[in-house]
Amino acid sequence: MTRPKILITRPWPAGAQAYMQAHYDATVNDTGKPLTHAELMQAMTAYDCLCSSLGDPMDAAVFGVPGARVKMIGHYGAGYENIDVAAAKAAGITVSNTPDVLTEATADIALMLMLMTSRRASEGERQLRAGEWKGWGTTALMGQSLEGKTLGLVGFGRIAQATARKAARALGMKIAYYSRRQAATDIEAALEARYVPSLDQLAAEADVLSLHTPGGAETKHMIDARLLKLMKPTAILINTARGSVVHEADLAEALKARTIWAAGLDVYEAEPVVHPALLDLSNAVLLPHLGSATVETREAMGMRAAVNVDLFFAGQPVRDRVA
Ligand code: DGY
Repeated sequence: MTRPKILITRPWPAGAQAYMQAHYDATVNDTGKPLTHAELMQAMTAYDCLCSSLGDPMDAAVFGVPGARVKMIGHYGAGYENIDVAAAKAAGITVSNTPDVLTEATADIALMLMLMTSRRASEGERQLRAGEWKGWGTTALMGQSLEGKTLGLVGFGRIAQATARKAARALGMKIAYYSRRQAATDIEAALEARYVPSLDQLAAEADVLSLHTPGGAETKHMIDARLLKLMKPTAILINTARGSVVHEADLAEALKARTIWAAGLDVYEAEPVVHPALLDLSNAVLLPHLGSATVETREAMGMRAAVNVDLFFAGQPVRDRVA
């Protein structure tokens, strides 16, 4: 029996990639460059399945390409706003993602950004490396304590809940959240999380406002100049979700004018381009989309994508089906 032909659009960690190559006629794009839109259109006619990843432009033109052979997209990643799910559905193509396995790693990065921003870690390290450190000082590089402060979570899915648990246990923070739907009472009770009925109210109350919504049209620029003005001058904004949720020019203005204290970002609207106004700010901690970047997590994401692909080709219900 001929094995399904699969294109993996970017190299995976060794174990998961070896699994795919052992079980499928799998080709890996190891050029070091993401595939172009034209290459993806072409691939749709040459493979049975694509394993896409973050940023691959899987739009209606890709799904509508004449003579398409692909029937399955085993996406490597939890977020999939780069995939036009409606167009995939219309073309009869199944799409899956890789949720759950990156929850803890991404929540860890949210916590790291909270600590780095509140304790001015990047600023201090930059001073030290530049030879500008004058030694220990009674008032030098004073940050803010997080103990007893309010962490406001925007969105209350898996990563937000893991962030809540870690922040409460490790840092002694109080948890509040805003989400379109209030969580079940047992979840709220377990995390001692308080529901706040509006984003504006949460922004005004939070000492740290941490974003955990999906990207896409509904959340685009949810954090803009108006919202930033509601935040306390001592407040910190954390984004480990999607760059498009934040209006980066507005954020840079707020940080520059010090109407908020700091921001810790792991994601950007036009990755890998970072808004130039953010780059010069001492109160912005900027990480290069590290949320899921641990060996264990990235292997687990590959194996989760593999399970979905296996199920599809075995004719069974796909575990993480999103289309
Ligand atoms: C995802 O999978 O959506 C993450 O952002 C990758 O780190």
